[in-house]
Amino acid sequence: MLVLSDKIYSLAGYRILKQIYCGSKTLVYRGVKEQDQTPVVIKLIRNESPTFSEIAQFRNQYTITKNLNLPGIVQPLCLENYGSGYALIMEDFGGISLKDWVRQNKLQHGITLKEFFHIAIAIASSLEELHRSRIIHKDIKPANILINLSTLEVKIIDFSIATLVPREIQDLKNPNVLEGTLAYISPEQTGRMNRGIDYRSDFYSLGITFFELLTGQLPFTNTDPMELVHAHIAKQPPTLHQINPNHPLILSAIVSKLMAKNAEDRYQSALGLKYDLETCDRQWQESGNITTFDLATKDISGGSIPILSKGTGLTQKSCTNLFPWRSWRPWRFVISLLFEAKIPYKNKFAHLGCSPLPLILLCIEMRELIILILIYV
Ligand SMILES: Nc1ncnc2c1ncn2[C@@H]1O[C@H](COP(=O)(O)OP(=O)(O)O)[C@@H](O)[C@H]1O
Ligand SMILES: [Mg+2]
Repeated sequence: MLVLSDKIYSLAGYRILKQIYCGSKTLVYRGVKEQDQTPVVIKLIRNESPTFSEIAQFRNQYTITKNLNLPGIVQPLCLENYGSGYALIMEDFGGISLKDWVRQNKLQHGITLKEFFHIAIAIASSLEELHRSRIIHKDIKPANILINLSTLEVKIIDFSIATLVPREIQDLKNPNVLEGTLAYISPEQTGRMNRGIDYRSDFYSLGITFFELLTGQLPFTNTDPMELVHAHIAKQPPTLHQINPNHPLILSAIVSKLMAKNAEDRYQSALGLKYDLETCDRQWQESGNITTFDLATKDISGGSIPILSKGTGLTQKSCTNLFPWRSWRPWRFVISLLFEAKIPYKNKFAHLGCSPLPLILLCIEMRELIILILIYV
């Protein structure tokens, strides 16, 4: 049992030992499962009367990862009912978030290159596994990456807004309610680019994460949400090298490539990125220096996930976004019938046996063909 402010939290079957995190929406604790004394991490929804979307996000992080069994992500163990919401029980591998690690150690100017390459290569591997499983994380940032400081294992957490679909179009939303974390959100995830989100969105957020780990600051520091969204879409971020001229130029180029506005200009696969990071790491360990080399030579466009051409999508939702008239389908049909009764040039098409409008619509979609046949017969 643990006292937080004026509330007492307890969960049947678990002993809560220590609070790790107290956010506006969630609370995270270390604890043990009483049955077998397994160390666990318990995440709760803070709101006593959670909204539908809070519950949906909470379930999402469990359902999307429960059968994955990937070494690069924190394994969820189960979802317990808790009040009107849920408690997510996760494995405890003794991790601390990169955000807390940097803050607690007061690494004001970022982490060392040796530490960076270890972490960056591990995250690239995890992203490769995730993307191969057709999962886009959509909220990559230092607070959602954990490291165990003894074993140096690195794992990704928080799949609250992750998606399984290969591609989706973000609706135009108020920046205060956008999914993801504004400081790390990709241009396409802002919903203001009229283009789909695919796994390359994670590379943008990873670029911002790398920038922050290496410099101790974010590339865009605007506090106004609208300005921040605008910066992601239209403003060129500074290079690593501009912030700290001691950083190898090639590393600066890698981070800038990840932060490219257009997904086509970023790395196209986590494998391509990992290869370049490993080359840097090897050179750095051997000579303490990294020479410039051609980037993305091992980058595989598309990897195992299809990338569609700009502005097209796969899902029904995407289609409706791109072709709004698709959502007018019932009205379209009613209007066509009205026209059919009223239009003066109907007679000109008398030889066709019906008016032109239903004919045109009939060509658009077979479903309407069946309805029209039913009506005309
Ligand atoms: N399995 C875990 N092990 C250690 N710390 C964790 C774990 N899960 C979450 N945390 C800590 O709790 C914080 C918030 O967890 P997260 O799942 O990202 O919640 P939210 O959905 O509110 O962002 C993380 O930044 C990290 O510090
Ligand atoms: Mg989080």
